[in-house]
Amino acid sequence: MDVTSGSAVYQLLSAAKTFKEIYVSEFTDGAIKEFHKWLNKEHGAHDWSYPAKFLAELEDKGDTWEENEDNVRRAIKKVVKWDICGGPLQPHEVPQVDCVISFWVLQKISKTKEEFKNNLKNVVSQIKKGGWLIIFTALNMSYYRFGKNMDKHFFLAIDGNFLRAAVIDAGLVIAKFEILPRSKVSDVLDHDSVAFLLANKKLGG
Ligand SMILES: C[S@@+](CC[C@H](N)C(=O)[O-])C[C@H]1O[C@@H](n2cnc3c(N)ncnc32)[C@H](O)[C@@H]1O
Repeated sequence: MDVTSGSAVYQLLSAAKTFKEIYVSEFTDGAIKEFHKWLNKEHGAHDWSYPAKFLAELEDKGDTWEENEDNVRRAIKKVVKWDICGGPLQPHEVPQVDCVISFWVLQKISKTKEEFKNNLKNVVSQIKKGGWLIIFTALNMSYYRFGKNMDKHFFLAIDGNFLRAAVIDAGLVIAKFEILPRSKVSDVLDHDSVAFLLANKKLGG
């Protein structure tokens, strides 16, 4: 399950190579509509061919970029609206899943570190015992610029130690945690590194 996708598809291209059924959640109606446009190949849908081509080149297994995209379309089982700050998702919406991915979300929706920890627990509630959480995000980032006027938007600045402790506090065991220093300088974001984290929800937790 991708918690929360926006209307993005790049992160699902490789996920759909492993997972035959994928749930997607999102908070805004606009992003859900955009995502459906792409799913249904509607006129005016966002073009995600760049990451689909990139994956085809990277894997070099003979899958075309169109197959990579259609693979995602086939795997999507349900798209649900979920306000993570409002608590766990109702079980009738989506059952607990084997793996949750969360990219660039928790710091966007949390104003404080306390809120981050609570929202992370809501995300973890969607994972089966023994299942997995994958987080990809930026560290020490306080804003990003977005939109026509490139306005600044808040992003909760956290470091690697905080992220590690919050994940353990949420009942997970960290299997892999990599921090890569920022490689490109621009005024669009002010992070100093990106973090990739893989963690397992304790069976007894
Ligand atoms: C920076 S985007 C990341 C989207 C996507 N994961 C990606 O990698 O492009 C943050 C997302 O959080 C969503 N969001 C905002 N408030 C939310 C909330 N209370 N609960 C869940 N998602 C929320 C936004 O609609 C947006 O899609």
